[in-house]
Amino acid sequence: MIVRQIPVGPMKNLDYLVMDETSMEAIVVDSGWETGPVVAAAKAGGMRVRYVVATHGHFDHVETIAELAGKLGAQTVAHESSELKTDLRVRGGDTLTLGGARVSVIHTPGHTQDSICLYDGKNLFTGDTLFIGNCGRTDLPGGSTSELFHSLHAVLMALPGETMIYPGHDYGDVRSRRLGEEAKLNPTLLARNLREFTGVE
Ligand SMILES: [Fe+2]
Repeated sequence: MIVRQIPVGPMKNLDYLVMDETSMEAIVVDSGWETGPVVAAAKAGGMRVRYVVATHGHFDHVETIAELAGKLGAQTVAHESSELKTDLRVRGGDTLTLGGARVSVIHTPGHTQDSICLYDGKNLFTGDTLFIGNCGRTDLPGGSTSELFHSLHAVLMALPGETMIYPGHDYGDVRSRRLGEEAKLNPTLLARNLREFTGVE
């Protein structure tokens, strides 16, 4: 897969284009603020974008999702619990197909109930569930500290250490890092139990 990380807007959001090199079919992960940079990158790369996927329903990730999907001739996708109106609904374990490649949906509630991560077997798009150096906040509607702890520690940390993390905001010292490295550096992943996690998240 080819991954393009595209900064948008004033809140350090990162949208993504993820393309299967064989078929040139792609997905967009999140669409906040503006559509121009993503449309330009998709066209420059000769990509056929099939889906625009929301990692969760917060405005800075989805405000322009319908507009972008319209411009690219793609379908919008969100978790089944999302309040967004989308063409497709997904749940954990579902897959999106790009040519011969597959992207899996992992349900990771905690930041919001509708939070999902996308995983292609090598790259993990984490939205606001996991950042470089931190995790998403849990004090907004639908947030849950205990659910986020479980999503990070029982679900995401079960993936291979060489998995590349691609977060929904550029909040860290780098824009992506391998999960195994991040597990040694990120206080929210170093927390050994919910009590320690509550102290650092
Ligand atoms: Fe968010």
